Amino acid sequence: MLTAGYTPPINIRQVSQKATALGAHRALQSKTDPNGIITHASRSLAEISGFSVDELIGQPHNILRHPDMPDSVYYLMWQNIKAGEEFFGMVKNRCKNGDHYWVMTRVAAILDNGTTIGYSSARFTPNADLIPAWEELFTRMRDAEQSSGFSDDRRFKPASDVLCKFVQRKGFNNLTQLVLSQRS
Ligand SMILES: Cc1cc2nc3c(=O)[nH]c(=O)nc-3n(C[C@H](O)[C@H](O)[C@H](O)COP(=O)(O)O)c2cc1C
Repeated sequence: MLTAGYTPPINIRQVSQKATALGAHRALQSKTDPNGIITHASRSLAEISGFSVDELIGQPHNILRHPDMPDSVYYLMWQNIKAGEEFFGMVKNRCKNGDHYWVMTRVAAILDNGTTIGYSSARFTPNADLIPAWEELFTRMRDAEQSSGFSDDRRFKPASDVLCKFVQRKGFNNLTQLVLSQRS
């Protein structure tokens, strides 16, 4: 989105579909500048992702992106955080070697006298039993994006509707409430 033209140093399409285990105690943290360029990464995030802290700093945050993630999740994330609201989501991230890890993620703006000077994020271990439902949801969201017939922001609407229905079927009013209920 914000990083068009960026060529990742790795082949982000190459994935193993093998999950990497997160210790329950980990809060994987990172910070970015206002454009999503990583300015800080915790050692725990580096360890799990397989990148060194130095490899992460200075890179766009999509260096962690897994190709199974729908674009609409990140569209929603940026809409929220740019509007000054915190965002909670379930995220499948790709490790440097193509493995992946699922995290319950909070992203929010870092403010200085009311001005956004960057964003911070913390990631926690989700309840593993709930991951298959998110895998299935994200497949349906990607399908909805592809079959929307639009190439601009309108392509996110059908996928967002799929996400809203998923949240409602689980008995929650919004994504934040659902995600917060799913910590391990
Ligand atoms: C603080 C912060 C943390 C983020 N964490 C992740 C992350 O863990 N994984 C990820 O794929 N994208 C993360 N993003 C979103 C990326 O900046 C980007 O929007 C996303 O990977 C989609 O990138 P693309 O549209 O260029 O493919 C984060 C953004 C911010 C501001």
